[in-house]
Amino acid sequence: MLGSLLVVAVFTRLSADVQPVLGNSFTFPQNCKNDEEGKLLRAEPHGEVEVAVHQRGVWAPARGYRHRILQSSSILFRRIFYNDSGVYVLRCGSREMRIQVKVLVPFNVTVKEGEKATLPCYFPTTSKKTVSARWEMNQQVVFEWNSCTDKSNGTADGRLSGDFSLKLRQARKEDHGDYFCYKQNEDGEKEGDPSVVRLKVKKRGRDQQRRRRKRDNRRGP
Ligand SMILES: *[C@@H]1O[C@H](CO)[C@@H](O)[C@H](O)[C@H]1NC(C)=O
Ligand SMILES: *[C@@H]1O[C@H](CO)[C@@H](O)[C@H](O)[C@H]1NC(C)=O
Ligand SMILES: *[C@@H]1O[C@H](CO)[C@@H](O)[C@H](O)[C@H]1NC(C)=O
Repeated sequence: MLGSLLVVAVFTRLSADVQPVLGNSFTFPQNCKNDEEGKLLRAEPHGEVEVAVHQRGVWAPARGYRHRILQSSSILFRRIFYNDSGVYVLRCGSREMRIQVKVLVPFNVTVKEGEKATLPCYFPTTSKKTVSARWEMNQQVVFEWNSCTDKSNGTADGRLSGDFSLKLRQARKEDHGDYFCYKQNEDGEKEGDPSVVRLKVKKRGRDQQRRRRKRDNRRGP
């Protein structure tokens, strides 16, 4: 009895979820203290496989991960594969943490500069409940919808049908990047996995610029 209590006290098990995006680099938000020895392992059906080792403040890749993890003070993957999904175990000194990694697959949208862009996002909705969704980019809220407080009337533009797509009227070069669409519960907390849309904004072609110039000239006095 006392023994098991001690074990519980020593191994504070915590759980956390991380959702890297396929093809991106990724830094684990979890880390050991600078002076702690540590290990990151991957739980596989046949046992635990070493991923990286922490010594004197630096993470070094284990055998199977040589070209995939950079020597760094954090656990930094150069590029995320789909099969990186799974359960990892982070050991720092006597602490242990299980981390569920779920790789998100982005939906690609490519538009030319100045064109409109639609970033798709659909969630199941039930008409009686509050429906709310949030778009984020670089951890910043880009747009938020709540069917109760939304003055623009969700029914009219399809949100109650489950369509939470984000529409950009004129894409600018700096709009490119990964956008995350989260469903929210009544308390405004994120619920379930987000949809990810990778927006690429291409430079307007020479042809187009020429055509535009011509058109503008025609419009002139
Ligand atoms: C995942 O896929 C990569 C690329 O094919 C391969 O090198 C790696 O061994 C795979 N990892 C696992 C855990 O299966
Ligand atoms: C999306 O674009 C990436 C390159 O940025 C590419 O590797 C990937 O295959 C594309 N995905 C789809 C579904 O077309
Ligand atoms: C919202 O849309 C519905 C259906 O189009 C309409 O009946 C209702 O009056 C609208 N409500 C507001 C506040 O505009």
